[in-house]
Amino acid sequence: MRFKPLATLALVAASAAAAPPSIDALLARMTVEEKVGQLSLFAPVSTGTVGNPATRQPSAAEQRDDLRAGRITGFFNGQGVAIKREAQRIAVNESRLGIPLLFAADVIHGFRTVFPVPLAEAASWDPGLAERTARAAAVEATADGFRWTFAPMVDIARDARWGRGVEGSGEDVFLGRQFAAARVRGFQGTDLAHADTMLATAKHFAAYGAAEGGLDYNTVDLSERQLREVYLPPFQAALGAGGATVMTSFNDIAGVPSNANPWLLDTVLRGEWGFDGVVVSDYTADEELIAHGVAADARDAARLSFLAGTDISMQSGLYRDHLPALVASGEVPMARLDDAVRRVLRIKQRLGLFDAPMRGLDGADRTDWPEHRALAREAAQRSIVMLKNDGALLPLPKAGQRIALIGPFARGGDLLGPWTLFPGTRPPVTLEDGVRAALADPSRLTVVRGSNIDTPLRGGLSAAVAAARGADVVLLAVGEGEAMSGEARSRTDISLPAAQQALAEAVAATGKPVVVLLRNGRALALKGAVRDARALLVTWFLGSETGHAVADVLFGDTSPSGRLPVSFPREPGQVPYHYAHPPTGRPVPASQPDSFYKARYLDSPHEALYPFGHGLGYGDVHYDPPLLSHTRLPWDGTLRVTARVTNRGTRDTTEVVQLYVRDRVASVTRPVRELKGFRQVHLPPGASESITFTLTRHDLGFVGRDGQPTVEPGDFDVWTAPSASGGTVASFLLEPSTQHHVGQR
Ligand code: GLC
Repeated sequence: MRFKPLATLALVAASAAAAPPSIDALLARMTVEEKVGQLSLFAPVSTGTVGNPATRQPSAAEQRDDLRAGRITGFFNGQGVAIKREAQRIAVNESRLGIPLLFAADVIHGFRTVFPVPLAEAASWDPGLAERTARAAAVEATADGFRWTFAPMVDIARDARWGRGVEGSGEDVFLGRQFAAARVRGFQGTDLAHADTMLATAKHFAAYGAAEGGLDYNTVDLSERQLREVYLPPFQAALGAGGATVMTSFNDIAGVPSNANPWLLDTVLRGEWGFDGVVVSDYTADEELIAHGVAADARDAARLSFLAGTDISMQSGLYRDHLPALVASGEVPMARLDDAVRRVLRIKQRLGLFDAPMRGLDGADRTDWPEHRALAREAAQRSIVMLKNDGALLPLPKAGQRIALIGPFARGGDLLGPWTLFPGTRPPVTLEDGVRAALADPSRLTVVRGSNIDTPLRGGLSAAVAAARGADVVLLAVGEGEAMSGEARSRTDISLPAAQQALAEAVAATGKPVVVLLRNGRALALKGAVRDARALLVTWFLGSETGHAVADVLFGDTSPSGRLPVSFPREPGQVPYHYAHPPTGRPVPASQPDSFYKARYLDSPHEALYPFGHGLGYGDVHYDPPLLSHTRLPWDGTLRVTARVTNRGTRDTTEVVQLYVRDRVASVTRPVRELKGFRQVHLPPGASESITFTLTRHDLGFVGRDGQPTVEPGDFDVWTAPSASGGTVASFLLEPSTQHHVGQR
């Protein structure tokens, strides 16, 4: 991964030509200190570094002086409009050049109205929904003066021990690309000059989710081929949708931390992809080059970070403290400094900040958006995944049954999930609220905590057993608390905490039918009575409307339609686990799952307990074998794959028809299946629908041994299926090109 000076020269020329004269005229008037100030982002002292580790902080007076001196380009995660309004007033009216500040925030899944965590929303398999919730979040956040969000997080995550999978779209590249682009469109809208739009940030660049051992911040060592095939495409999708900024990742790749990686930040991002937006350091990732052991001191870290291509330093102050001297010594060329500043000024101009710096800052804090609650409820409904429903226990009747709602998540708390820094004043709807509101006679509901999240509750088990015995059906609300998911929340064991497992076993022992309502920010290894419950709903962290959405599905006001964006393994020891894995030289024959000398564990079946893409509705959907328009697809041809699905059930349902392919023989190993398309279809009872997907050779490509996009003719399998392990296979041959010799295997 060598740094190519040529790409940089081309870049300087391009961006100089692109910036409008007013930016260059302003740049020409700026001192080096003012230029560096445009590359220095801080948390406002009054708010502190919420959501992040504490760092040394100046006094409020010192921060005001920095504003007057033009040493700050903007604040992030500032609470309240007033703080931002006062800071903007100082920057615009009391600094020498009056360059407006840019206000950023971690608007990850909502703002005042909290939507399902991104991983939950990915379970909707509806990028259009994600675009709508991102748009609503932008409307709320921009009304609070924010014009830059540090989202979407587009990291592919295949190790459930890693806590940050909750912020992304799961294990699959195809699904991840769709959601990355959709969320960028939602945040940025159609024109960044509109007051209710905000810059999106594709983060964390790159391969943060591939941390060894699922241990957050840990080293990443993967091939360039794997990087380009799995971890970079969602970034390309986000930037292809117009994403304006990129955030570096804390990790190294093959020993080179992203903040100091010119191959990543310049050769690939700017040279190959032509990205001309802004790169911001993740929090103090520039300063962390010292801890990584690749920078000798803060000055060295600032030099490495800036020269690699990180435009803005967040919170560490390293650029403010060291870039002027680095420029004076010639270690940092003034042209490179100007180039970075020009990019920052240009996005501020695109946002209209020079024309109207106080826009969005003139209102009072608005802490509630009733008009977005319906969207929050819809998004939450559609994020719920029903893994099982033995004997059609669900939906439950709203009358005539005594219900016991048991578990540490039965009542409030842990509804919103991580990265909810700006929740509104209206409380979220708890499970108890939602279930009680749905029942014809709320007195038929008994609510018992039964256990704490991590520890037993004195008398909890006996109270839970008594409640279960007095009920006709038990709703068991178990899983992870918010503090078990998100940044710096890696877990060695993705099972349920022992205290909750004990609660589940005690309740199950009563023999009453149990519906598990799982609270989770990752795939969990479900065991014993939780795994064996009659019905299992994955309800993630669903946000402001949790209780109503879960009740809507429980009582059949809507059919569950979510599908897993991550595989649920059988055992904690199976992770990292994902469905699109290579076959190995000793795949386990489906007909002989116990055969020896095969790629399987001694102590567990090797497949997932619930596969990627799995989810049930209240219908009974059957798939006809896929119909192919060709069995021999010409090199330049288009294959149509038609799936006919029928709901033989008695209730409405929404099916997510999935298209998977397998390249049987190629010059590198190919996954046993890869998602290449999906479509949601609503099926009333008895209805059939035919869904047609199209494939060309461009959908069948991969990254070749040479690291280049590659397509090879040959035999392919194709499935239309309800999950990554279902469906009926059909096959076709991609014929070689007739025009030119195709690459030799
Ligand atoms: C955090 C996270 C990043 C977030 C940033 C600012 O460390 O890694 O996702 O946007 O800092 O809060």
